[in-house]
Amino acid sequence: MYAAEKIAELRTEIERHNHLYYIEAKPELSDYEFDKLIEQLVALERQFPELVTPDSPSQRVGGAITKEFVSVVHREPMLSLSNTYSLGEVEEFYNRVKKLLALEGVSEQGMVAELKFDGVAISLLYREGLLVRGATRGDGIQGDDITVNIRTIPTVPLKIPDVGEIEVRGEVFMRKEDFEQLNESRPEEERFANPRNATAGTLKLQDSAEVARRRMSFVAYYLKGIGDESTEHFSRLKLLEKLGFYTGNHYKLCHERQEIDEFIAEWSEKRWKLPYETDGVVLKLNDVTLRERLGATAKSPRWAIAYKYPAQQARTVLNAVVFQVGRLGSITPVAELEPVLLAGSTVSRSTLHNFDEIERLGVMIHDRVIIEKSGEVIPKVMSVVLDERPSDATSVVIPSHCPACETPLEKPEGEVSYYCPNEEECPAQIRGRLLHFASRNAMDIKSLGKALVDQLVALKLVKDVGDLYFLQEPQLEKLERMGRKSAQNLLRALEESRAKSYERLLYALGIRHVGRATARELSQAYPSIETLMLATEEQLSTVPDIGSVVARSILDYFAKPSAQHLLEKLQEAGLNLCASESTVQQINRNFEGLTVLFTGVLDHYTRQQAAELVVERGGRAVESVSKKTGLVVAGHDAGSKFDKALKLGVRVVSEDEFEEML
Ligand code: IVH
Repeated sequence: MYAAEKIAELRTEIERHNHLYYIEAKPELSDYEFDKLIEQLVALERQFPELVTPDSPSQRVGGAITKEFVSVVHREPMLSLSNTYSLGEVEEFYNRVKKLLALEGVSEQGMVAELKFDGVAISLLYREGLLVRGATRGDGIQGDDITVNIRTIPTVPLKIPDVGEIEVRGEVFMRKEDFEQLNESRPEEERFANPRNATAGTLKLQDSAEVARRRMSFVAYYLKGIGDESTEHFSRLKLLEKLGFYTGNHYKLCHERQEIDEFIAEWSEKRWKLPYETDGVVLKLNDVTLRERLGATAKSPRWAIAYKYPAQQARTVLNAVVFQVGRLGSITPVAELEPVLLAGSTVSRSTLHNFDEIERLGVMIHDRVIIEKSGEVIPKVMSVVLDERPSDATSVVIPSHCPACETPLEKPEGEVSYYCPNEEECPAQIRGRLLHFASRNAMDIKSLGKALVDQLVALKLVKDVGDLYFLQEPQLEKLERMGRKSAQNLLRALEESRAKSYERLLYALGIRHVGRATARELSQAYPSIETLMLATEEQLSTVPDIGSVVARSILDYFAKPSAQHLLEKLQEAGLNLCASESTVQQINRNFEGLTVLFTGVLDHYTRQQAAELVVERGGRAVESVSKKTGLVVAGHDAGSKFDKALKLGVRVVSEDEFEEML
């Protein structure tokens, strides 16, 4: 088969699986198999760069670094919606629209009820069937061009049937599962409070490869350009689906007000079962031409309204406060609650964050408390019903000793948390480190679950993660609920985990402040543990995203004898303590510190590939030209950026010259 054919076949196959996974929620392939298809495509495209096109799914893996996003003016202002928490106001809205339309001589009015996705609004432009621009809402008039980041979103079609120039608007959001996975991979103090914050933060990232890794989603709710002959919003949503967009599928064309009330009531509970967060229902006048006649206020249109569900609250009893010891020794108070139904699931625990929070709430054991679940995944204790404080209410006593190992607790100056200083022996900290080591983003050892870790630690079979690799079958067989087969499974899983990358291992060690992204940076800057251990604070601080706090935490970690001892065990067990050949890039760094801008069409590379080449060699690829730009590479039909570069006196080279520099 010719490369072109194979590439075309792979692309179709990949987009089909994308659709099955994200839009139909009926995946046929495992993540692993899917990644293999992408790898094949990327490898082929690397071999035949002339066959790379901007709509290839390989373009979704990101790579380009953007220094500064260029601002763009929306073709039509991106309005927002007026919000209400009151069903009474929804009724008023409905009646108001009816009256305004009556003045226009219109009696029948359809309203489309849609779910309100809790994310970030964007606008997409397609020309001749290709995605050419993706922008944030900004202030509604002007937003940022974030096309490089938007391309990485699997439910944003890169290619659609050629229907001329169209604009699609919608919401970028993060599915709960993807959000949790992202947060899991971050150090505790850097976690996002909710999926919306995570989405907003991710869209603005300069590193599109990181955006790709975070897996965001897109739902479309607006189409302009075609289908204008159809004056119905409802049929435009159907048209969006035909073009390959995800619309969420849960909208309804309502003809009576009662149907609207029913839709709102129906989704107030059903929404908890969705894989993403929704915070309300949006009502839009179905007839688009009538919309124009109703017009808009400065901020929001008169033909639509957003009804927001009230934050979910429940009342329950605080039965007890227990104290959890984290893998880094911090003590977290956890509320044990009388089980209660909240936001579609039964809640029996909730975090109290820290001791200051207990004081702020003034909460006592046996109190009646109000808990709430808003954007956050974990419910919070919001307040105490003081009027109903029972006579047997008792104060929460801050423990003086670690609940797991009895060591006196310490409170570092300036911190709100108490810590157990018994890092090496405290069974709770050991358990935490083992679970972190085995977690999905770390060594991904599925058969090493909580029950097993508890036993391994209680029986002192394992004192650190290194001991895992010296476990023997007879020792394991004796454990509770562990037959021969499970013992062999665990040993096999451990065996397989030895091959996991050095980058994963760095993250799995659980060094304070070192999340997955920092581990990646470290693995590139220091391709072996040996070199990393020798790095000074100043040297570490030159690695992207590493400040003095993180640098010091890394130094502290390696300075401990226990860490040295652990690394010896891991070495003996044959784990990857240095990057493999393929990750250590044997590439010269002759673009170190240079900012490069590509303009016009290149013959041999896509923009993204060219940008990757620069980044691999230590440079940065930027999207706009300024006096500080080091180099402009001009392809065919280079336009205004080329002119500006000449004006600013920036060095301009051709693609051939660029290749020579490589
Ligand atoms: S329509 C003029 N539909 O809510 C109408 N917006 O508070 C423009 N949103 O800025 C928006 N789900 O970010 C629309 N089904 C939906 C929506 C939705 C979420 C967001 C959007 C908008 C904000 C307004």
